[in-house]
Amino acid sequence: MEIKIEDLKVLFSEEQIKAKIKELAKEMNDFYKGEEVIAICVLKGSVLFMSDLTRELNMPLKMEFIRLSSYGSSMTTSGKVNAVDIKLPDLNGKNVLIVEDIVDTGLTAKFLIDFIHMNFQVKTFKFCSLLDKKITRKTDVEPDYYCFDVDDKFVVGYGLDYDGYFRNLKYIGYKE
Ligand code: IMP
Ligand code: MG
Repeated sequence: MEIKIEDLKVLFSEEQIKAKIKELAKEMNDFYKGEEVIAICVLKGSVLFMSDLTRELNMPLKMEFIRLSSYGSSMTTSGKVNAVDIKLPDLNGKNVLIVEDIVDTGLTAKFLIDFIHMNFQVKTFKFCSLLDKKITRKTDVEPDYYCFDVDDKFVVGYGLDYDGYFRNLKYIGYKE
């Protein structure tokens, strides 16, 4: 399948995304109560979400970036997660917040949750995802925070790509 920008329908607009991120950040600001947070952005899909979300957070915060991949250029997951770059500082005793674009099968989330818990004794661990695609879940993981539910659609924009394209869109769209 090919996706052209003119075929895209808006699923979540720029305004909807902004409003939801503000709501989510308020919940997080209340939860962390000014304690330091290490926000870990899962590249590349979460880059826009990370930059907008963290600008709404008011505690001392450090950013880390890791790169995992499970999708090739196709629209279905390959079923295995590749840790392309997962170098992290010492997270023992830290409040760790993972920032992901979408939880689909949940394999990426599960991999990360296991990886962090195997390597560190963190103070708190929260998994935050822009989107939650519950219908295609193959693991028992659930994000602690998320902005929107999506049904079984392949979505692009606001970080999410098709074959590397559309990450720069201000909205989240899909092809009917
Ligand atoms: P999971 O491991 O199956 O949960 O998939 C996680 C990764 O697959 C996400 O971080 C995305 O990069 C990618 N992905 C899953 N669904 C979509 C989609 O609808 N559009 C774009 N990327 C997706
Ligand atoms: Mg991703």
